[in-house]
Amino acid sequence: MNIILTGASSGVGFEAALEFSLRTENHIVCIARSADKLRKLLEIAKGINPDCNLLPVEFDIVNDDYAALNPFLTERLGHVDILINNAGALINKAFKDTSAQDFAEMLQSNVLGHFNMIKNVLPLMKNGSHIVNIGSMGGFQGSVKFPGLSAYSSSKAALHTLTECLAFELAETGIKVNCLALGSAQTEMLEQAFPGYQSPVMAFEMGKYIADFAKTGHKFFNGKIIPVAVTTP
Ligand SMILES: NC(=O)c1ccc[n+]([C@@H]2O[C@H](COP(=O)([O-])OP(=O)(O)OC[C@H]3O[C@@H](n4cnc5c(N)ncnc54)[C@H](OP(=O)(O)O)[C@@H]3O)[C@@H](O)[C@H]2O)c1
Repeated sequence: MNIILTGASSGVGFEAALEFSLRTENHIVCIARSADKLRKLLEIAKGINPDCNLLPVEFDIVNDDYAALNPFLTERLGHVDILINNAGALINKAFKDTSAQDFAEMLQSNVLGHFNMIKNVLPLMKNGSHIVNIGSMGGFQGSVKFPGLSAYSSSKAALHTLTECLAFELAETGIKVNCLALGSAQTEMLEQAFPGYQSPVMAFEMGKYIADFAKTGHKFFNGKIIPVAVTTP
């Protein structure tokens, strides 16, 4: 399978990349901004499966030039079976301290970056391809809300709605779009959102779940926001 995974340099994205790299037939473009962390990912993946086809790509989904990325994707993958929009950022601030710039930053990292990526990758997708957006229970309608996360959660809610709209609009193409609204997994971002909280779900467990869902979920779901949470948060 040909896979593009953003936010692969840490947390659940890093673990999902390792899960995909177990199978040599998977070609995985792993995107993030941190070259050093991506090098480490490749090193670990090669240690587990020396023949894996993991391609680290240092790229900022918000600010970098897609005109430079597209020829690389076309040449190395040709077509794309799975796009996982997992990159994300979080600002934890009381609403009264949240600036318009903070809010805009959340929308850029958690929505606009994915909008950019989807627009550029869509021409490489075909009937049977799957777009998986990584959302959050914080942005899930009716879920318990927490102080400090208004900008982050609002951005995730926007990503959830984008998922529904896109699934509807792409229905005739056979490209499926779903969103996993994660509860919690033990990562740097979780520590930022809920300092000291210990999640019952390890990053590698969530990474494996995301990879498995991306491979098979489109056979059962389209346009769905699926809560992936055993606890709150
Ligand atoms: N962990 C949880 O409990 C939890 C709960 C709900 C939702 N989520 C969601 O799950 C996803 C993964 O989170 P995580 O917990 O694994 O967080 P993480 O460890 O902080 O990972 C975030 C990843 O996104 C990348 N990234 C951020 N901005 C980027 C940009 N502009 N361009 C390219 N890459 C970018 C980061 O890499 P660089 O810094 O190297 O670019 C990093 O690889 C996020 O979308 C998050 O909102 C997580």
